Amino acid sequence: MSNLFDELEETVSYIKSKVNPVAKTGIILGSGLGNLATVIETEVEIPYTEIRHFPVSTVKGHGGKLIFGKLGGVDVIVMSGRFHFYEGYSAQHVVFPVRVMKMLGVENLLLSNAAGAVNPNYKVGDLMLINDHISFFTVNPLIGKNEEFLGTRFPDMSEPYSKAIIAKAKQIAAANNIHVHEGVYTAVTGPTFETHAEYRLIKTIGSDVVGMSTVQENIAAIHCGMKVFAVSVVTDLGIRDGNNTITHEEVLEAANAAEPKLTLLFKELVKVI
Ligand code: HPA
Repeated sequence: MSNLFDELEETVSYIKSKVNPVAKTGIILGSGLGNLATVIETEVEIPYTEIRHFPVSTVKGHGGKLIFGKLGGVDVIVMSGRFHFYEGYSAQHVVFPVRVMKMLGVENLLLSNAAGAVNPNYKVGDLMLINDHISFFTVNPLIGKNEEFLGTRFPDMSEPYSKAIIAKAKQIAAANNIHVHEGVYTAVTGPTFETHAEYRLIKTIGSDVVGMSTVQENIAAIHCGMKVFAVSVVTDLGIRDGNNTITHEEVLEAANAAEPKLTLLFKELVKVI
């Protein structure tokens, strides 16, 4: 068996020495969106620093712990703090926790992220349900030897985001007066925000938002047969008369402000998937 298999087994057996994981839903929280963790009835939480083979998050606004507990009465595993390619981890390292979740029995993966909008109809604070993505500006985590125990060499990507879960999320949003868009997320490596020319390019190729996460996790999850649902919180507008500047603080602030809508959406969603 591969090194990856051995590492996953070690990580999983360590986790199982602390908790008996029963959750079918895993959640990964994005920058400034960690508040959802506070409404979880936590049973066990394990700091990433204690989990063998887990990278350690280095970004401001990321908590860095794996939480086992209940959200709205439903068992979940939550990653409070994710790993980004721009922190210097390999793409395989970034998706390691997704594979751990799979081996712990997770079937549905819910992701959130902060993103910049290039769709001129979007405003700061809006939510966008991701219905497709463009991965070409980041590194595919499946490059390298295929791990057959996880999935096939050439995964089909015709439904990267579950249509059934999107439909349920739209119903929940409507019932709670939360306005949501549906659209395409383009992944970039970061850590630089985009230049004006890059925002224009990203818009031209058919994107609605751009961000530095999510897509590698999505690819790893689809590869190993999970269903994925993801939401972007619009934290800034990439195209604004060619005149805008942008800071990480501004992104975190906008994410924090929009966070309660996201928490409500995820809390209701886990009950019906
Ligand atoms: N670009 C890339 N990533 C981001 C942005 C952006 O404008 N906003 C938040 N994350």
